Amino acid sequence: MAFKSLALALAALSFHRVSAFTRLQARDGNDPYPFCNPATSPDCIVGGKYVKPDLNISDEPNAGNQAYLTYLPTHTYTLSQWSAGKYPEECHRTIAGDGFNPTDFTVHNVTYSDCPSSPWVICVSRLANKTPVQIATEVGRMPAGIRQATAAYVVYDENFGGAIGAVGGLIIGKGSYYFPTALVHEHGHAVDGDLLAPNDPFSYSDSAEWRNTVALDGYAATAYGSTAHAENFADIGRVVLINNVVPGGLAGLFPTNPNLTQIANQVARFQSKAGSYYQAGTTCDLSKKYRYPSVTVTVPTTTAAPTATASPYGQCGGWPATYTGVSACGAGYSCTTLNPHYAQCTPAPVRRSFMA
Ligand SMILES: *[C@@H]1O[C@H](CO)[C@@H](O)[C@H](O)[C@H]1NC(C)=O
Ligand SMILES: *[C@@H]1O[C@H](CO)[C@@H](O)[C@H](O)[C@H]1NC(C)=O
Ligand SMILES: *[C@@H]1O[C@H](CO)[C@@H](O)[C@H](O)[C@H]1NC(C)=O
Repeated sequence: MAFKSLALALAALSFHRVSAFTRLQARDGNDPYPFCNPATSPDCIVGGKYVKPDLNISDEPNAGNQAYLTYLPTHTYTLSQWSAGKYPEECHRTIAGDGFNPTDFTVHNVTYSDCPSSPWVICVSRLANKTPVQIATEVGRMPAGIRQATAAYVVYDENFGGAIGAVGGLIIGKGSYYFPTALVHEHGHAVDGDLLAPNDPFSYSDSAEWRNTVALDGYAATAYGSTAHAENFADIGRVVLINNVVPGGLAGLFPTNPNLTQIANQVARFQSKAGSYYQAGTTCDLSKKYRYPSVTVTVPTTTAAPTATASPYGQCGGWPATYTGVSACGAGYSCTTLNPHYAQCTPAPVRRSFMA
């Protein structure tokens, strides 16, 4: 599949296809439903209304995220690190294109128990606030049915100008956005753009079938979903997954205001198109899994100074009577004493120049 072209919306929660994305009106504090103006924004969701309660995508403690943590099973996995200096071409291009230094990243295959013969790839900055193990665990919450729409995860440090987004088999974002409710949303873009619409440049949410269904309801799933059809599609997916995995569905989560009737047509359409992927306990389908062309970029590794350093998050100090290992950390890391018995190499708070 070709790499789909996108514009990076710096302050937004997602990357959007240029062809599909139209930023709609900003929210007005006086009116709960002022998101859209169909007269001036043809991409507008009719009525500009959204379902309450809102499942805020950037709010990690929200009920939707907690529901995923409770009801989506974890999957066991093995991580296997690529040799230094080798990257999947897509990871390397993305990292360099976003102004980061690829040599700050480590690359890992992650092979999950629900898809034993085909790994995913994690390209994670050593300066990110989550380790490869933490990223693999968060991603492992995603049902294989939606995870298979993505091939690799690029994880940046917190200086990245965007939050998290999805494009062409990649999910790209800063470590703090790798939590289930945001990941379900981003995988929704991958399902929309690749699983349901393999022919570039369209996404399923661009289709008349989907837009007519939205118009029939006249409501978006969430406030963020009111900003564009692609965002609404991804958030209908979040609602559908909750509805499928939480006992009692959305009503089980929000008994006083499930309000599924407002988006009933979209939920039904979504279920018929993608519902089989949005279930707990699915296994991958290799015929649908997004796999990279096997192009590997090899860059010469810089000859590191011969001083022994502990690996990122490795031990660099401890109880003097028993700890005899190295005490230095690699570039970008400093040795942090966590308790009198243990010190660890943690990312030094470096601001990157590209973020001027
Ligand atoms: C969503 O949550 C974030 C983080 O808690 C908060 O800053 C933001 O205002 C919330 N957005 C809405 C629309 O409630
Ligand atoms: C990663 O997985 C690919 C198959 O997708 C395999 O060819 C490669 O050898 C694996 N690399 C490592 C380091 O496990
Ligand atoms: C949900 O939305 C429908 C349609 O707008 C409305 O009639 C109903 O009162 C709402 N339900 C609740 C519990 O707010």
